Amino acid sequence: MDIDVTVVLSLVLGLIIIMYFLFPRRNPNSPPFIRGWIPWFGAAFQFGKAPLKFIEQARIKYGPVFTVYILGNRFTFVTETEDVLEFLKSKEADLDEAVQQAIQRTVSISKESFHQNRSMFFKLMVQQLSSSNLHQFSETVCKEFHEHVDHLGKEGTEDLSELVRHIMYPTVMKTLFGKSFCPTTKEFERHFQNYDEGFEIGSQMPEFFLRNWAKSKTWLLNVFERIATDIKKDKSSESDSKTLIQHVLDNMHGNGASGYLLLLFWASQVNAVSGAFWTLAFILSNPSVYKNIMEDIGSVYGKAGEARIEVFEDDLKKLPSIKQCILEALRLTAPGSIIRKAMKPLKVQDRWEEATLKKNAFLDGYLAFGGGKHRCPGRWFALMETHMLVIILLYKYQFTLLDPMPKQSLLQLSRVCHPDGPCRVQYKLRE
Ligand code: HEM
Repeated sequence: MDIDVTVVLSLVLGLIIIMYFLFPRRNPNSPPFIRGWIPWFGAAFQFGKAPLKFIEQARIKYGPVFTVYILGNRFTFVTETEDVLEFLKSKEADLDEAVQQAIQRTVSISKESFHQNRSMFFKLMVQQLSSSNLHQFSETVCKEFHEHVDHLGKEGTEDLSELVRHIMYPTVMKTLFGKSFCPTTKEFERHFQNYDEGFEIGSQMPEFFLRNWAKSKTWLLNVFERIATDIKKDKSSESDSKTLIQHVLDNMHGNGASGYLLLLFWASQVNAVSGAFWTLAFILSNPSVYKNIMEDIGSVYGKAGEARIEVFEDDLKKLPSIKQCILEALRLTAPGSIIRKAMKPLKVQDRWEEATLKKNAFLDGYLAFGGGKHRCPGRWFALMETHMLVIILLYKYQFTLLDPMPKQSLLQLSRVCHPDGPCRVQYKLRE
């Protein structure tokens, strides 16, 4: 099956429920069970090679709901939109229980610290990153984008993914962590990239299987520990203009600050960078969309020029076509899974009787940012920064794609897909 369809299906419908030891005996109503041959590992190897492909093939063979045994856990995949939405609403589908161990493995936050700080962290994210708070960030984001876009010079050729990453990394870091705490050196980037590549597997396996990944994790945690200490010492944290990180540190109980900082840095970067990449790549690969967007940008900012355009948050409303491109790019490439733990057996049936009425009523089948009460709190920030970046880059440069549009990688399950190959662009200042 064509991978675009696979990804779209998984993206729109994907929900994993961990049923870890909840059902010691198989109930006749349980979904089909794919257990693999190797004890404890189960189907880990086949799954790990290309998770999205595995899910799509299992869906064709076993139907929309099936359980896979992987590394000692049972994962039940629910792949129909209506069921996913029902589960996200259910009180028995718990996010914290599903992710606690993964968080301990990836950012070394202990179980105790997780339970102490979890709801404070989420509430703060929702509050600080709410749409009514975006004006706090927009000026810095715009200024920082310009600063890093200037490094592109008059013209050049670069991989679009790298180009986006080099602009977004430091911008988000300075906006959320503060200007003076920005370790965006080459060494930091190298370790972060290595850490990010192994993040999904690192969330499932003990780290002694993953020596190289664990080294980068420890390196990054040490950097974030130093940043946390510096921020706590910094007097400006007592002023009104606290950064998001200062808010987190001020409200934290116990140890583990470096873990929360690394987690937030990871969450704020990886999906947004890939999302901005796909948005630009889809626009550039479609000449009529590219042309329409340039006309829209021209109508708001006038003719091309070298001047740094100031993009205000309000301007974004005047360019809805770009926002539509961002939302559509994310819909097509969004995380293939949303994870919850089933605290009790959950039923997937009888939905058609009840669903018919609701079926046409929701637009909330849009799952790129997750769903339910734990939907991504950074979604407004992500949309704003991507919107600004697209405007600033396209206003300043004329881009040409040098490679065909890459396919979407089958390797990422719980985040925006990576491109499965190079995607070089040539750019030059517009006249
Ligand atoms: C295109 C960009 C982004 C996408 C597609 C995305 C997607 C997601 C998804 C699918 C989840 C899981 C939601 C669930 O379980 O229902 C999530 C969680 C989260 N995201 Fe995003 N995200 C993006 C950008 C951001 C940004 C820019 C930030 C921060 C500035 C951020 C911060 C977070 C945090 C903190 C969580 C965990 C929330 C919790 O504590 O439960 N995200 N994101």
